[in-house]
Amino acid sequence: PPLSEILNLHDFEAIAKYTMAEKAWAYYSSAADDEITNRENHAAFHRIWFRPRILKDVTKVDWSTTILGQKSSMPVYITATALGKLGHPDGELNLTRAAAKHGIIQMIPTLASCSFDEIMDAAAPGQVQFFQLYVNKDREITKRIVRHAEQRGIRGLFITVDAPQLGRREKDMRQKFEAEDPSEVSKADQGGVDRSQGAARAISSFIDPGLNWSDMAWFRSITNMPLILKGVQCWEDALEAYDIGLSGIVLSNHGGRQLDFARSGLEVLVEVTTKLKEKRGLSFPNEKFQLFIDGGVRRATDVLKAVALGATAVGVGRPFLYAYSAYGPEGIDQALQILHDEFEMNMRLLGACSIKEVIPEMVDASNIHLH
Ligand code: FNR
Repeated sequence: PPLSEILNLHDFEAIAKYTMAEKAWAYYSSAADDEITNRENHAAFHRIWFRPRILKDVTKVDWSTTILGQKSSMPVYITATALGKLGHPDGELNLTRAAAKHGIIQMIPTLASCSFDEIMDAAAPGQVQFFQLYVNKDREITKRIVRHAEQRGIRGLFITVDAPQLGRREKDMRQKFEAEDPSEVSKADQGGVDRSQGAARAISSFIDPGLNWSDMAWFRSITNMPLILKGVQCWEDALEAYDIGLSGIVLSNHGGRQLDFARSGLEVLVEVTTKLKEKRGLSFPNEKFQLFIDGGVRRATDVLKAVALGATAVGVGRPFLYAYSAYGPEGIDQALQILHDEFEMNMRLLGACSIKEVIPEMVDASNIHLH
């Protein structure tokens, strides 16, 4: 169908499924084991309902915000997803260009298909970008990558902490990874490639399962970028991250691609805000310690629920991959335009003129259990 018939982010997935190369679809869509967490990610949003306010002048609504001190046209960023060229020859550059056009932030993955510098060179002047880091067993390699990212102006370092070993994504494993296809080889390939078990396993064998809390002081010593942990899944770890002075955390289960039966970021958000208030007197959103979630976000209403519950912003992954894989750069452009349109309408219907006015009282989260 023509792009003009695409009405929401789910549509891109439906079309990508039958237009993408089988191998690319397998890598992008797959999740761990029985894919229960992947399904739960979106389903969790169904447990939260709105409590809109009426009779407010909503002629003008503004859904722009700031993320780690940087302007963003909406409380959404493009999260890191590896191997962008599987779906389209321009790979991650599609995301970079669309992010510039729509005034949002892209998180560049360690395992991008394009090199880090290619992506930075494609950015518009002054375009803000974040970087997602997989930590190498060889810390000198990691140090070089981090320093280079900082030099090139990256404004936030998101260290992935939910992947000491890659989850089993069986859909992907059934598609053998073939090295000959250059679109599948990440320029950031850091060695130890085993090509017999699907794309995910092949590119990730350098990741250090020994990474632990005591490494965080080392990261602080090598960079001044804000440090954020990506993949926190309970309040105990959130509290630790706050106590050691990190800038934020992403409540995420890696799009259901790691531990199956991990809870959704949305569910974890509620316990994190509750416990950090109880234990440290924090309120959210909080400038000094920012909360992000990702996983299953497909509508502006999903984003608004997370924002109401204290998230600064949310990450979106697969929908943008599907959008450019199925329709090229116009696809991702349309995906972001759809989100903007949804924000305008839903902010009006919610009775919120700005993101600051999207407050906890605007949602009923009583179906979320506290732990
Ligand atoms: C990811 N994700 C991911 N995360 C990360 O920290 N490093 C990575 O290299 C990747 N690679 C990756 C590839 C693909 C194809 C997907 C779908 C996901 C996880 C990603 O950042 C995010 O947590 C989820 O994608 C969010 O869920 P949705 O929006 O895809 O449902």
